[in-house]
Amino acid sequence: PSSTLSSVIKGPALLPIIQADTPHEAVAIAKALADGGVGSVEVVLRTRQALAAITAIRTALPDLLVGAGTVLSATDANACKAAGAQFLVSPASTAKLLEAMLASGLPFVPGVATPSEIAMAQEYGLREVKFFPAHLSGGIEMLKALSGVFQQMKFCPTGGIGQHNLAEFLALPNVFVAGGSWLTPASMVQTQQWSQITALAAAATAIARQIKT
Ligand code: 3PG
Repeated sequence: PSSTLSSVIKGPALLPIIQADTPHEAVAIAKALADGGVGSVEVVLRTRQALAAITAIRTALPDLLVGAGTVLSATDANACKAAGAQFLVSPASTAKLLEAMLASGLPFVPGVATPSEIAMAQEYGLREVKFFPAHLSGGIEMLKALSGVFQQMKFCPTGGIGQHNLAEFLALPNVFVAGGSWLTPASMVQTQQWSQITALAAAATAIARQIKT
């Protein structure tokens, strides 16, 4: 890619997921996160209006870095770029997917959970990947084990990260940002508890700023 995700990420080393049913809801979630100090968000392609949500956040909150997540095809990658996504995140790595994301010209991280997937990403010239599902794939201990073999590779772990283990993940030298849905619980979104989301974001921001300066 022309640039890496780590070089464009804004704010603390956090990448909260936004899953929204409407663009309006997406903007409300993004604003609540930004009020808590978050500078970068990942809108996941898991709702019908996800692409419209990306465009809406870009327009309403121009200072926020807005990426697309759950990118699973070349079609997804192209649609996300057209919608205004500034980076791409995928839970998976296939040759087709890596080629499509490279062709987008956007910074991106493909998902890996095994040494072979990391090696494939390296073969494509990548130096940053998403480690997913982080907790189920071995978590902290796995990332430590991988650091010895893949000394150039940096990881964005997601899956099972929360306030309880954020510090431990971020403290790893081969982790450049931590992502997930713990800052945007569906229960809080449904009941529009935006100040609660801001409070969760502020707590995570404090940890991230302390560890990754
Ligand atoms: C992702 O898309 O990265 C995962 O949904 C994150 O997992 P989490 O919901 O456990 O944070």
